[in-house]
Amino acid sequence: MPVRGAARGSIGQVHDDEGRLRANPWHVPPGVASLGADPCDLCLKLGLVASSDVQYIFGSTPTDLETKRLDRLEQVLDPHTFERLDRLGVPRGSRCLEVGAGRGTSALFLLTRCGANGEVVATDIDTRWIEQIRHPNFRAVRHDILADPVEDLGLFDLIHVRYLLGNIGAERGQDVVQRLAGRLAPGGRILIEEPQVALAADPSHAHSDAWKRLVQHWDDFTVRLGLDTNFGVRLPRLLLSVGLDSIGSDIQGSVTHGGDTWSDWALTSLESAKNAVAQAFDDGGARIRALIADESFWKVYWLSAATWGSRPTPEHTTS
Ligand SMILES: C[S@@+](CC[C@H](N)C(=O)[O-])C[C@H]1O[C@@H](n2cnc3c(N)ncnc32)[C@H](O)[C@@H]1O
Repeated sequence: MPVRGAARGSIGQVHDDEGRLRANPWHVPPGVASLGADPCDLCLKLGLVASSDVQYIFGSTPTDLETKRLDRLEQVLDPHTFERLDRLGVPRGSRCLEVGAGRGTSALFLLTRCGANGEVVATDIDTRWIEQIRHPNFRAVRHDILADPVEDLGLFDLIHVRYLLGNIGAERGQDVVQRLAGRLAPGGRILIEEPQVALAADPSHAHSDAWKRLVQHWDDFTVRLGLDTNFGVRLPRLLLSVGLDSIGSDIQGSVTHGGDTWSDWALTSLESAKNAVAQAFDDGGARIRALIADESFWKVYWLSAATWGSRPTPEHTTS
């Protein structure tokens, strides 16, 4: 059966002729080499790349594993996201855009705020979850923010992006910020939340230093795959550079240990990326997994940085 999704090509977005997502974990779809892609050798070796230069590391994760991974992320991040969105303000009647919506928890929150006269458009390259949401003021759109036109989506009063740009790397992420800023109506606001790696570990633990080296090594490895776990600190400058004002930021995180939700998310993520993990570590990732799972080991390795800004209104610009 021909691999239809490969022609448009994002990693793991492999559909059969009926449009069903095919399980294709960690295999380069047939025909990739002849589609004119120019992926990095390492990505090809790991089966991360389909036919474009889009390299989404979790793109071919089986549904149950990805559901678990996203669920853990939502448990940790949603309360902070919802609080930030309320602080920023989502007026009734707003038109909102959620980019890379995942399972759509933030999009659903926006729906509760914008009311019967508002609208929420949720986009993703993988619409497995959002296409199941049915509401007259909600629209799920299969859309690749790197490749598909954004103009067709219209203008928005609020745009929210969470944990997408870090997955697509610094250069492409910068381009996405610019395109999204162009989709803000005058006075419209954008909130972007992205990871920021931080390395701190309880020094009384015997493997504290080894842990930091392992995390640093994995971080460096993922940069070679096109990710950027330092996207958080890039955001304020990026929003300023695309002409937004009223820039603000905050950062959130916790001291975690084995058995908590963060650690569960991290272990699930490593499981999803197991081919890359096997390539990165000579022990197949056994040590880093054991230290994440160690209940007696307290550490900080992952912060969530949020930055927001507004598109100036014409009066504001000329005054
Ligand atoms: C780590 S998940 C975060 C999901 C959601 N934003 C959240 O925080 O719960 C990243 C999401 O971005 C989507 N994604 C990755 N590359 C994309 C692209 N080029 N265009 C649109 N969505 C993309 C993935 O399919 C996935 O749903």
